[in-house]
Amino acid sequence: MGRPLFIEIPLTSLNNTNMPVPLLDLSRQHAPLQSAFKEVFNRVLESNGFVLGPDVKALEEEVAAYCDCSHAVGLSSGTDALLVALMAMGIGPGDEVLCPSFTFFGTAGSVARLGATPVWVDVLPDTYNIDLADAMDKVSERTKAIIPVHLFGQSAEMECIGAFAKKHGLRVLEDVAQAIGATYKGRKVGSFGDFGALSFYPTKNLGGFGDGGMLVTNDAELAEMAVWLRNHGMNPKYYHKYVGGNFRLDSIQAALLRVKFPYLDSYHEARSTHASYYIENLKGHSGIVCPRIIPQAKSVWNQFTIRVVDGKRDAFREHLMAKGIGADIYYPLGLHEQECFEGIGKGGESLTVTPMLAKEVISIPCFPEMTEEEREEVLKAIWEFGYPG
Ligand SMILES: Cc1ncc(COP(=O)(O)O)c(C=O)c1O
Repeated sequence: MGRPLFIEIPLTSLNNTNMPVPLLDLSRQHAPLQSAFKEVFNRVLESNGFVLGPDVKALEEEVAAYCDCSHAVGLSSGTDALLVALMAMGIGPGDEVLCPSFTFFGTAGSVARLGATPVWVDVLPDTYNIDLADAMDKVSERTKAIIPVHLFGQSAEMECIGAFAKKHGLRVLEDVAQAIGATYKGRKVGSFGDFGALSFYPTKNLGGFGDGGMLVTNDAELAEMAVWLRNHGMNPKYYHKYVGGNFRLDSIQAALLRVKFPYLDSYHEARSTHASYYIENLKGHSGIVCPRIIPQAKSVWNQFTIRVVDGKRDAFREHLMAKGIGADIYYPLGLHEQECFEGIGKGGESLTVTPMLAKEVISIPCFPEMTEEEREEVLKAIWEFGYPG
């Protein structure tokens, strides 16, 4: 009996042939660096110096230079970097701080923790970054600072933000947690404002092995204040000039981060290749909108976040999950609608883009070590959802 020329394969069994693709796989990034990690780990272990120390100092110098800044202060997390920056700027009760509602909690949490008022500013629907026109409407005589967040790795419009801040006498704290290495007009983000706050949380482009963060600045006085504040405002030992906290970075963390740091630009490049490929291959898909890259900016693509604009985002997410494609939602609720900010923030009533994005966005795999086959698999899964390819 001859073999059939054509076998009809039911769609369900085709689906099962999908190759799973994680949203992020750190083991691939760390595998080639294992022996270097172990070497520095042993070195720090044998030194018996575990808090701050020479590795933190060296990392500060390296990161400051990389971020086009003259100073850097290693800290316990990105959230603490934001908090210390606001403390160093003297932000407190009665002060208002303009910050986007569409961001991670830490951006505004730091404002509220100091008794200041976060003033919720909307974001732009195509870049997801702060909408300066809305900030202009909400600035008041109480406003002391603005926090532009370089969300998902792309710079906010720093030139206009700088001019606006200057006009109103505002401090600028850049939230660079997702954007170390990103540029605006060829200059690194973090170097435009009074401070740039970095995060070394493991999922960030320079991801550590636990929590860690850093402030970068070109202002020597602010840097000095941050150094005081990270160690209980103490100097000499047990004499406290300011009420600071324990915001110190561990030596082991800094030493391990220094092993990864030389590869950071190559990680950015790989992310950027994936992102460009997605943008090219999702063009013309009726249900999906890719982020807009402003011509002055070079994104480092901490996340590749698309909008599913036909109200099917949650079904789309379930579809990806069924195919084994990692995806997540950053963020499902604007900060102005978070329970903890009830009665604390201001200006949330006017926001329209933030609630819309919260219902539409979804981030898909874009990590440096993702293979071309995996990238195709992600695109295939998107097309299989029923959008024209
Ligand atoms: C935009 C943004 N701001 C602040 C933070 C806080 O950083 P960390 O997690 O290191 O405290 C994060 C990290 O999750 C972030 O994504």
